[in-house]
Amino acid sequence: MANIIHRPSWHLPESAATPESLYLNRRHFIKTLGLGAAAMAVTARCGVAQQAPVSRTDPAVEKLGPLPEYELNADFADAGRAITSLDDKVNPLVYNNFYEFGVGKFQPAINAKGFTLDPYTLEIDGLVKEPVKLGLEDIEKLGIEERVYRFRCVEAWAMTVPWVGVPLAKILAKADILPEAKYVAFETFYDPERAPGQNSREYDWPYKEGLRLDEAMNEMTMAVTGMYGKRLLPQSGTPLRLITPWKYGYKGAKSIVKMTLTAEQPPTLWNTALAAEYKFYSNVDPKVPHPRWSQASEKLLADKIVEVPTQWYNGYGDQVGAMYADRDRVLY
Ligand code: MTE
Repeated sequence: MANIIHRPSWHLPESAATPESLYLNRRHFIKTLGLGAAAMAVTARCGVAQQAPVSRTDPAVEKLGPLPEYELNADFADAGRAITSLDDKVNPLVYNNFYEFGVGKFQPAINAKGFTLDPYTLEIDGLVKEPVKLGLEDIEKLGIEERVYRFRCVEAWAMTVPWVGVPLAKILAKADILPEAKYVAFETFYDPERAPGQNSREYDWPYKEGLRLDEAMNEMTMAVTGMYGKRLLPQSGTPLRLITPWKYGYKGAKSIVKMTLTAEQPPTLWNTALAAEYKFYSNVDPKVPHPRWSQASEKLLADKIVEVPTQWYNGYGDQVGAMYADRDRVLY
């Protein structure tokens, strides 16, 4: 992997950094992970205080065993802003979008508790010589690593997360992809009994997303199986989800069971539901407003919210910009 210096393109002014008292430096942070979790009180946006029984473990996830050993990828060790602290009221383990388990931000952590896709099989089919089936162990054997990425939702909030996973390109290399393939479609499990949100007729379940094949192969694209040093909890997309940090968060389908190589651009759940609002590329771009969120700035979620300017491609232009050299703006 090229040794690219990231900091200059997205370094934030000191004033934008999370206050020091809230920042867990990396060593302290790793130590904290070992302490296990405490149930924490969270307050929903609507102002209703609720006790979210969120912990760092889940019995269903425990059965998968611990993450295999991994190292921090030095190229992605520093995201130029503080890792979102799990001590904050709003953090990536309690504040989620996972509509299969409720549309409220604090619902998935409660409603998905105990959810599992065990035994897990990821199927790669479509324009491949032979369909391929991989278990979680097969995938992680390809080599997991940790990367700290900025994470940006189209709703104009952002967090910074240490993900653990496999570059997606390594997984796709297990399939013999035919030359006609131009896109990869991603599909989540379908089980409305266990995921009651899938009974809603508003959406075309299961959750679907897609990438152009070169985007899927880009060095930034990760198939994630862990975060903050542990396996993904149900609310975060157990056992495997996608992360594309230069795109809005909804491109990162959770609990993926199938990847299909296609010649045509595949449909996505959000584009099918609201075509005017959610486009296929969905690259972070301060100059392309969403009808409901300007995108010029973003809020770094923490106990004290800080607003900073949005960066084109979420600041990852060095890594991904060349893929869109033929276009001016690509969200629309
Ligand atoms: N994947 C599935 N299967 N279902 C979902 O509702 N929501 C998406 C994405 N992946 C979603 C999903 C959206 S809108 C966002 S912003 C991110 O997951 C949120 O990920 P997080 O909850 O880990 O922050």
